[in-house]
Amino acid sequence: MTETGKRHFIKTFGCQMNVYDSERMAEALETAGYVAADSPDSADLVILNTCHIREKAAEKVYSELGRLNQIKQAREKDGQQTMIAVAGCVAQAEGREILARAPVVDLVVGPQSYHRLGELVGRAAQDGGVIDIDFPEEDKFKHLPSRGVARRAPTAFLTVQEGCDKFCTFCVVPYTRGVEYSRPVREIVDEAERLADAGACELTLLGQNVNAYHGEGEDGASWSLARLLRRLAEIPAIRRLRYTTSHPRDMSDDLIAIHGDEEKLMPYLHLPFQAGSDRILGAMNRKHTRAEYIDLVRRIREARPDLALPTDIIVGFPGETDADFEQTIALVKEIEFAQAYSFKDSARPGTPAETMGDQVPEAVKGERLAELQALLSAQQAAFNRSCVGRKFDVLFERPGRRPGQLVGRTPYLQAVHADAPDACIGKMIEVEISGAGPNSLEADILRDADSPGLAVANG
Ligand code: SAH
Ligand code: SF4
Ligand code: F3S
Repeated sequence: MTETGKRHFIKTFGCQMNVYDSERMAEALETAGYVAADSPDSADLVILNTCHIREKAAEKVYSELGRLNQIKQAREKDGQQTMIAVAGCVAQAEGREILARAPVVDLVVGPQSYHRLGELVGRAAQDGGVIDIDFPEEDKFKHLPSRGVARRAPTAFLTVQEGCDKFCTFCVVPYTRGVEYSRPVREIVDEAERLADAGACELTLLGQNVNAYHGEGEDGASWSLARLLRRLAEIPAIRRLRYTTSHPRDMSDDLIAIHGDEEKLMPYLHLPFQAGSDRILGAMNRKHTRAEYIDLVRRIREARPDLALPTDIIVGFPGETDADFEQTIALVKEIEFAQAYSFKDSARPGTPAETMGDQVPEAVKGERLAELQALLSAQQAAFNRSCVGRKFDVLFERPGRRPGQLVGRTPYLQAVHADAPDACIGKMIEVEISGAGPNSLEADILRDADSPGLAVANG
């Protein structure tokens, strides 16, 4: 690595795929001689990795750019240059418009061009106003520097699939991330092994539609996500596997089955259903009915009875009546979710739903969301309470807020706080859950699951 003395600062918005992309961009820049800055005030290059999913998310970028403009001017007075780049889904969706609306921006780079970042930064330094929102032929993953082996957190994200061909009528993702693409198995296994060598023991495989995965296998055939998961489970240092986000239509039989027999696959499945009424599901182009979703959940729970099921729900989609909304409430009551993300429908530019008649008034969306969220919070709290007194292996990830306290995750992805020495970070420790709040659990350490017989503390 050549030291350039330059510093970068990346601020990430949106989903886990952006978190993953930001890590890859940071590594690419570090290979090119940059080091990470603690704040934008001390950075020569600031990248905003943006999200376009709802209007609020997209608008955040412009308020952030206003703040960065002030920093850039202040630094200029001290004789320092600051390059400002917009990456991610707003970059892809708005392209040149960003430069018109925020002239402070030097570079606009879409998610498929991150392997060209070094070259683009060089060009922007010379000419300013550079835009790259192509969907290039070459595979960016192959051209990004391979993952560093510096010690990392015990958990890591690994993008295995990108893009989406589903075209739900409310969603911008097929436009911002392009067509569905699955990375080859070899590339993923290599990356997983490097992450494991760097200390990761839990991997979360990512994709906008991760269960549609159909990458080229080690034998040249097309592999399903289930087959990929079985292959990754063979890596000894990988103790836990997760994947997100899944589409109900792509929950194939082999994927359901693996929830029943692969111990490393955690009993947790993020399965958005979006709406409870078939009329609205049809208008959303979700390609499944209410009954099909219920039946699917039944089959998955048959394979893994203790599965925790989080979901995503939209209220106030165009044309949604009180009766349609009641069906969403009824479905939530029937399934009982461990956790959920719920949103007011946001009309997004260029999507079919943007121009549908019968848009639901904001006030009605607000009332529906409040009612739904009260129900979902109660279900989440009940799920958390049901864990009190149970014993789990928890993977401890980092220090907590209080000295002497660590934070980890249960198999169901709930955050757990426990008093434990720092040496427990990166280890699986058996705990007994002693308390439950709405968003996290408290636990007492029982023993080190990595070396049974060795008591860490008295439960
Ligand atoms: N690929 C995933 C989700 C992608 S976006 C899937 O298919 O489930 C994450 C969530 O944002 C979606 O599940 C949906 O609930 C929500 N969302 C997407 N577009 C939206 C919009 N226009 N308005 C409100 N919520 C939206
Ligand atoms: Fe968007 Fe639908 Fe694709 Fe999910 S499946 S990313 S909601 S278009
Ligand atoms: Fe947002 Fe793009 Fe992810 S729109 S949710 S950052 S795929």
